[in-house]
Amino acid sequence: MRVLITGGAGFIGSHLTEAALAAGHDVRVIDDFSTGTEENLAGIRGHARFALDRCDITTPEAADVLAAACPEVVLHLAAQASVQSSLCSPLHDARTNVLGTLNILDAAARCGTRKVVFASSGGTVYGQARETDLPLTERLPKAPESFYGLSKHAGQEYLRLYSRLKGIEHASLALGNVYGPRQDPHGEAGVVGIFTHRVLRGQTCTINGDGETTRDYVFVTDVVDAFLRAIDRGEGMINIGTGAETSVNDVLRAVGRAASVPDPAHRHDPARPGEVRRISLSPRRARRELDWTPEVPFATGIAHLVAHLRQQPLPAG
Ligand SMILES: NC(=O)c1ccc[n+]([C@@H]2O[C@H](COP(=O)([O-])OP(=O)(O)OC[C@H]3O[C@@H](n4cnc5c(N)ncnc54)[C@H](O)[C@@H]3O)[C@@H](O)[C@H]2O)c1
Repeated sequence: MRVLITGGAGFIGSHLTEAALAAGHDVRVIDDFSTGTEENLAGIRGHARFALDRCDITTPEAADVLAAACPEVVLHLAAQASVQSSLCSPLHDARTNVLGTLNILDAAARCGTRKVVFASSGGTVYGQARETDLPLTERLPKAPESFYGLSKHAGQEYLRLYSRLKGIEHASLALGNVYGPRQDPHGEAGVVGIFTHRVLRGQTCTINGDGETTRDYVFVTDVVDAFLRAIDRGEGMINIGTGAETSVNDVLRAVGRAASVPDPAHRHDPARPGEVRRISLSPRRARRELDWTPEVPFATGIAHLVAHLRQQPLPAG
């Protein structure tokens, strides 16, 4: 199948690109390399069924690339993916995540793409969850508390309406907190990636707030599996999570165990605005729609990540 992946040079997108090629698809990637890297695609450079276009999803050029490629399926992952950046620069967030998504959707609808699968965010579109609602199901109201959550929610809604008005199939995969090799260990993204790098370097980890904030962590290969399944099944919003809550304190302990550092050095900073307190995502609809269940337990995923990082030269910083 001809598959176009936006954001294919990023953390999740590069794993997905490799897996889609391995599954026998022809893969074209659109990426502006704002956070993605050439290095992430090093393993598939020169592959006969792989093509890459370096462009911005908000531009007419990206729409032209998509129209010319005429993919049967678009896996849309390109995004401004940071909650904190969205709070500092809501305009940039909306430009990429709303207008960029609209540009891709419109080009896909015009060239006859059968289906668009969108990387949404289960961790932010629901907003503050009531404890009695955990693990969250897709039917619950969406009340994002960050501009990033809002722009992802808008993306989902654009997809839903495009589907209804233009007959394009769609799935919005509302991802939990994804972790695994290639996650950027700098900045805000992914406490697992940050802690793992810092513990392996013997550096102090910073916990924002009391560390009892919880997230639903999903290993990147499980997320890739969900996207590949969504190419030919599943419709509408689908949570991609485990249903389990893991606190920041639990993450630090798990990383310490995997790295054989029993009590990793840490300090506490104030809690961050725009962050939800507790979250877990029910995987029941994913099981029904995609026949998907998470395969990698948290301790196994962390052990895998630690083993992977031990084989890499650790980046500076
Ligand atoms: N990592 C997570 O835990 C998580 C959770 C929920 C949702 N998501 C979503 O999954 C997707 C992938 O996230 P990721 O963690 O791999 O982040 P990432 O930053 O590694 O990947 C995003 C990719 O999109 C590209 N990109 C950004 N703006 C672009 C633009 N204007 N034009 C073209 N390319 C552009 C970047 O260069 C990068 O390669 C994003 O849509 C993100 O919002 C991620």
